[in-house]
Amino acid sequence: MTFEEVLQARKSVRSYIDKAVEEEKLHAILDAANLAPSWKNSQTARCYVATGETLRRVREALPAFNQRNTEHAPVLIISTFVAGIAGYDIKTGEPSNEFGNGWGAYDCGLHDMVLLLKASELGLSTLVMGIRDAGKLREILSIPEEEQVVSVIAVGYAAADPVRPARKPTQERVRYFD
Ligand SMILES: Cc1cc2nc3c(=O)[nH]c(=O)nc-3n(C[C@H](O)[C@H](O)[C@H](O)COP(=O)(O)O)c2cc1C
Repeated sequence: MTFEEVLQARKSVRSYIDKAVEEEKLHAILDAANLAPSWKNSQTARCYVATGETLRRVREALPAFNQRNTEHAPVLIISTFVAGIAGYDIKTGEPSNEFGNGWGAYDCGLHDMVLLLKASELGLSTLVMGIRDAGKLREILSIPEEEQVVSVIAVGYAAADPVRPARKPTQERVRYFD
């Protein structure tokens, strides 16, 4: 697939068939995400991969509509980042600028985007969910206090081919200066 094809194939899918994700594909998307850039190469993004019984419990940390969106999805990846590192001065522990842990979240988003695109290349579909109960996820997966819970990402095989929601025209988002 060309990069353009990968990009066009990625859409948020809210309907999955009851089919497992091959272990090699799962490893491939997690490995790909490792190539994402990060603040001073601090690599603070973390993934918790839930399948089987753990997945069933993780689903309970999703609101009803996201449970419906991910019914039959065989894998849920919980993404977190270790707070207080990206965007912080290692020596003083002080934030390097006004964005603080925003940089950790930024890095986590870059990491997750690579994962989504690799999944797309491998014929897998995904759904990022920001509406989730972070406290429940922390408890179920024993996520340490120093990590900030970010998203739950469903991974699986699509049961439908949704239409991509419209985007703003590029000129509405971009300003050029010279
Ligand atoms: C940070 C983030 C949080 C999101 N949370 C949810 C969610 O909780 N439930 C959901 O159905 N979709 C969620 N989405 C998916 C967006 O609605 C979707 O990406 C957007 O509508 C654009 O559609 P596309 O991904 O098909 O291009 C989320 C996406 C992002 C990036």
